[in-house]
Amino acid sequence: MSAQKPVRRLTAPQIAKRKGGEPIVSLTSYHAHTASIVDTYADFILVGDSLGMVMHGMESTVGVSLDLMIMHGKAVVRGTKKALVVVDMPFGSYEESPSEAFRNAARVMKETQCGAVKLEGGVRMAETIRFLTDRGVPVMAHIGLTPQSVHVMGGFKTQGRQQDDWDQHFEDARAVTEAGAFAVVLEGMVEPLAAQITKEIPIPTIGIGASADCDGQILVLEDMLGLNPAPPKFVKVYGSLGGQIEAAVKAYADEVKERSFPAEEQVYR
Ligand code: KIV
Repeated sequence: MSAQKPVRRLTAPQIAKRKGGEPIVSLTSYHAHTASIVDTYADFILVGDSLGMVMHGMESTVGVSLDLMIMHGKAVVRGTKKALVVVDMPFGSYEESPSEAFRNAARVMKETQCGAVKLEGGVRMAETIRFLTDRGVPVMAHIGLTPQSVHVMGGFKTQGRQQDDWDQHFEDARAVTEAGAFAVVLEGMVEPLAAQITKEIPIPTIGIGASADCDGQILVLEDMLGLNPAPPKFVKVYGSLGGQIEAAVKAYADEVKERSFPAEEQVYR
């Protein structure tokens, strides 16, 4: 019998307690293999609806379905042991009413075994966030640039460039906090606004294209690995996987064409 204690997954309340403490590390992941690598270093892994664009070549996240999120959520939970797994609620699965949101969030949690869901919107989603948290669903909120509203916003635009708009973003941040969100993603927001929201609210802020002063950071894994040929401007690229994959595929194709593929490697052992 092993004397080692099983590794326990981080929980939403443990992430909430990290406010103002050790920075929270997070990345997206959509499949078991990459998730198992990310799991060693990340506090939480987001199965983001960005998977519609990254994995499925969609133009925006609007076309992502609940079934697709559940399929990728299951894979990420299976591939990980330690990080909290948060699954995005896709467009159209939660906005209509709090009870629709609960029905769909409960399905996500039961079928994937994830530890929390994320949804976009501030003041307008506060009632729903309260409804979910009161019924056992930990919610991560997402304000600022909310990609599911791309058609209303007229594109992926940095928020808060006009100081006149700042009040709305503060109100969003306060509303999701009061509604019981355990953390909030601040996406695509001018730096001083994100830094001030971080100072003001008592829950962790997770920045993406926002501010280094946020309580944590998140990036889309494929962007930081160098797989996206045109990543957003704010992304620091830490790898060059696109080039490495291309070189490996070329080396393989050359060997096949030259019939120099090692004979023993053609046999299924
Ligand atoms: O879908 C996603 O990947 C996200 C992150 C960019 C925060 O929501």
